[in-house]
Amino acid sequence: MNITLNIWRQPGPQAEGKMVAYELAGVSEDMSFLEMLDVLNEELFARGEAPVAFDSDCREGICGMCGLVINGVAHGPERTTTCQLHMRTFKDGDTITIEPWRSKAFPIIKDLVVDRRALDRIIAAGGYISVNTGAAPDAHSQLVPKQDADRAFEAAACIGCGACVAACPNASAMFFTAAKVTHLGMLPQGQPERAARVVKMLNQQDAEGFGGCTNIGECAAVCPKEIPLDVISQLNADLAKSWAGGN
Ligand code: FES
Repeated sequence: MNITLNIWRQPGPQAEGKMVAYELAGVSEDMSFLEMLDVLNEELFARGEAPVAFDSDCREGICGMCGLVINGVAHGPERTTTCQLHMRTFKDGDTITIEPWRSKAFPIIKDLVVDRRALDRIIAAGGYISVNTGAAPDAHSQLVPKQDADRAFEAAACIGCGACVAACPNASAMFFTAAKVTHLGMLPQGQPERAARVVKMLNQQDAEGFGGCTNIGECAAVCPKEIPLDVISQLNADLAKSWAGGN
């Protein structure tokens, strides 16, 4: 099929950006979205033009590196990662608009690549547990109720792609932080730092320039790992307990 791509081009962090249109012919519906961009870049190379910079790594929906706003939706029209989106979602003659994640806390590095290290710094502020070194303990030495294990696992599916931030009108990272707080807070290993964790992570989130949560829910609607919105309720419950002085 033949498509038109409107792509955000920005040569560097301080440079002015603009949308640029490209015509691409012979796109197979079996291509992934990123393979389609690879084909575009091969054509740009051949013409002596600068290829479009975009992020990817695993291309299997695991690492969270890829992330594009496609036709106004984070990761595009299907609820998956950009690398798992396929061109069969589109049709011949379509015009597809591609933009980077837009957030003050995710400055643009080049074209469609943004700096998402703010999420790493939120993790570093409190998204960890303290364990004794030495041999790994027996797996059944700390029993975890099934419903807690399931809840922790559901939240642990977060791959830190940042789609939640890109989709939120406030560019809030609350959904990301809440997934991490819920993941660790449901497990016995996460209890020693539980009260301090939520405060430290939220303070870092604010320091990074993310907006506040106003319960709009766009974050959960685009999450490729289908993490439920109520992890934010869990975060708020932990925060209230922390203010009250305990776990
Ligand atoms: S490239 Fe790893 S999740 Fe898309």
